[in-house]
Amino acid sequence: MGVVKADWLGFASTLDKASVDMLYVDPPFNTGRSQYTPVKAKMAAWRRGTTAATTKYVDAWPTMVEYVAWLRERLVATMPAMKVSGNVLIHCDWRASHHIRLLMDEVLGADRFVNHLVWAYGLGGSSPRCFARKHDDIFLYCVEPEKAFFQAPRVAATSRRLAGKTKKATDVLDVPSINNMSRERTGYPTQKPLALLEMLVGACSPAGGLVVDPCCGSGTTLVAAKKLGRVFAGSDVNPAAVAVARKRLANT
Ligand SMILES: C[S@@+](CC[C@H](N)C(=O)[O-])C[C@H]1O[C@@H](n2cnc3c(N)ncnc32)[C@H](O)[C@@H]1O
Repeated sequence: MGVVKADWLGFASTLDKASVDMLYVDPPFNTGRSQYTPVKAKMAAWRRGTTAATTKYVDAWPTMVEYVAWLRERLVATMPAMKVSGNVLIHCDWRASHHIRLLMDEVLGADRFVNHLVWAYGLGGSSPRCFARKHDDIFLYCVEPEKAFFQAPRVAATSRRLAGKTKKATDVLDVPSINNMSRERTGYPTQKPLALLEMLVGACSPAGGLVVDPCCGSGTTLVAAKKLGRVFAGSDVNPAAVAVARKRLANT
């Protein structure tokens, strides 16, 4: 398995039936604009004597209806590849989360809903006109509720009574977004933190299981899967993403 340059739709048709333990999709969010490498990340890489993978991808559909239809076609095409014990996670934000939850109810079944995870990331700007938007949404659905794999992740306890101990993670995932100065940052736009993906992969796939990310970008999910001893397969339409992901995987 590995990373291929392909549209999610074509990639889905190459997956074996009932082979996937965890499908994680972090698609474009339909922001209505292209996503670019942050300038601060380019500067930070330059100061370290390296270069950031400067690139962009288009993240705009004419209407929300067309965006959801794009997602539906690909999600439906991937479902035959899921194991009965498998989990499906879609990562999105306030722009489309209400549509995506309904789409997952339709494709997987509302009774397959497991969690609405909130990734609370802290960093970034804020508007004077509304509460600062500081979270993404990740919907977790299973294929068969009685057979679904789940291993509750543990996080550091915060209360004084449990100081130094761990507790079961809640559905609010407090993971900082990647600092522009961080060595983890590849320069690929909208790169997600490895700590977040390690938590999701550890919780939603068994050791040795197959983890699939069809919009893999810089390859964060695949790197997390490799580190945790899972088999992985990913695709992206953007050749720059495939190059970054392959380089990260070679160094993992
Ligand atoms: C939000 S980014 C993924 C970021 C990734 N999770 C990371 O940590 O780097 C979405 C990715 O979807 C890719 N993409 C857009 N349309 C696609 C399609 N039809 N098939 C596969 N990938 C696609 C984009 O090129 C982009 O890299």
